[in-house]
Amino acid sequence: MPQSGIWTVAVVGCGIGRSHIAEGYSRHPDKFRVVALCDVDRERLGKLGDEFSVPRRVTSFDGVLRMDDIDIVDICTPPALHFAQTLAALSTGKQVVCEKPLVGSLAEVDRVIAAEREAAGRVMPVFQYRFGNGLQKAKRVIDLGIAGKPYLATVETAWRRTPAYYKTPWRGRADSELGGVLLTHAIHSHDLMTYLMGPVASVFARTATRVNPIEVEDCAVANLAMQNGALVSLSATLGSHKEISRLRFCFEHVTFESSQAPYSPSDDPWEIVPASPEAANRIADALAGHRFVPSRFEGLMGAYYSALATGGELPVTLADARRPLELVTALYHSAATGAAVSLPIEADHPRYNGWRHDASGAVSMMGLYTPTERTQ
Ligand SMILES: NC(=O)c1ccc[n+]([C@@H]2O[C@H](COP(=O)([O-])OP(=O)(O)OC[C@H]3O[C@@H](n4cnc5c(N)ncnc54)[C@H](O)[C@@H]3O)[C@@H](O)[C@H]2O)c1
Repeated sequence: MPQSGIWTVAVVGCGIGRSHIAEGYSRHPDKFRVVALCDVDRERLGKLGDEFSVPRRVTSFDGVLRMDDIDIVDICTPPALHFAQTLAALSTGKQVVCEKPLVGSLAEVDRVIAAEREAAGRVMPVFQYRFGNGLQKAKRVIDLGIAGKPYLATVETAWRRTPAYYKTPWRGRADSELGGVLLTHAIHSHDLMTYLMGPVASVFARTATRVNPIEVEDCAVANLAMQNGALVSLSATLGSHKEISRLRFCFEHVTFESSQAPYSPSDDPWEIVPASPEAANRIADALAGHRFVPSRFEGLMGAYYSALATGGELPVTLADARRPLELVTALYHSAATGAAVSLPIEADHPRYNGWRHDASGAVSMMGLYTPTERTQ
């Protein structure tokens, strides 16, 4: 804990890094101070630095690691850089925040987990969608055992991405984005689904590239069997002209339906439909104890501070980041092989070392990029 009680932060990457500052750190000026920014793009660096009056601006990541007075390195760089930057920051004793996807394989997550065990600092992966009142109310009802038997969930991620989005060179490429809509976009809603429904037992997935001329999938469907016996359907596209995220959960005593706000589906209003007047009473009693949860990065960074200050569990742990990456691995393997895939994915699985490669090391990410399909 810093003597001043205020943690000093360096944000690396000035894209989503702006939201970490605007929606997160700057809403907690008594807890965090962003004192350094890093980006290889000097124009972006200058613009964001000026907007938030950040005093230090550097173009080299090593330059950040050399700053002894920085407590937290917040990594918002393109996905393929996360693994090396996270390990390097941990090795210098920093606390680390890292954007999704945390790394590029289950093997890499396990190496970060091992490195964290030996390090002074800890790693908080970013899943800001967990912070919102609607989702947290549903979680409370489920965790208190009021919802009853889980029947079925449907999860829709219907977003829109145009060629302009893919002008950023790392996007849309297997070796730099590391995946498509399942990895980059729908990962948030899929994380929320397992947050409420628990572990996945088995998946069957199909993926396709139909919206933009890119190397990775931009449409996907999957059906899942959960360990608790419930069934789940996932759909994800980047070709929806009305953007929504929607999660529905049907339990024995209650049905939950999220808001449709694409980038904040966890916020109120969630529709909570009890099965009976008795269920309604139990839910009302449970929700009387609900404590307000600020949305997205504000909620995430507030909870992060509490965990840092007390040494308690981080609001998002490496185990939390591993779960959706394990699901992604299973989904890509299913799409590539045309077979159902059981979880957990262990170290002897052909895609443990990377969901983009099969056991032979050949890139066979989704197994469907025939020229005919690409031009449809
Ligand atoms: N949590 C979310 O909701 C959310 C939203 C958007 C993006 N993301 C994730 O955040 C990451 C960044 O995405 P983005 O949309 O901000 O991308 P972006 O391309 O807009 O921004 C990334 C920045 O990193 C900089 N950069 C590249 N290499 C660097 C290096 N070696 N050192 C320092 N800076 C470097 C680039 O110049 C760029 O400004 C991705 O992993 C993405 O998936 C998460």
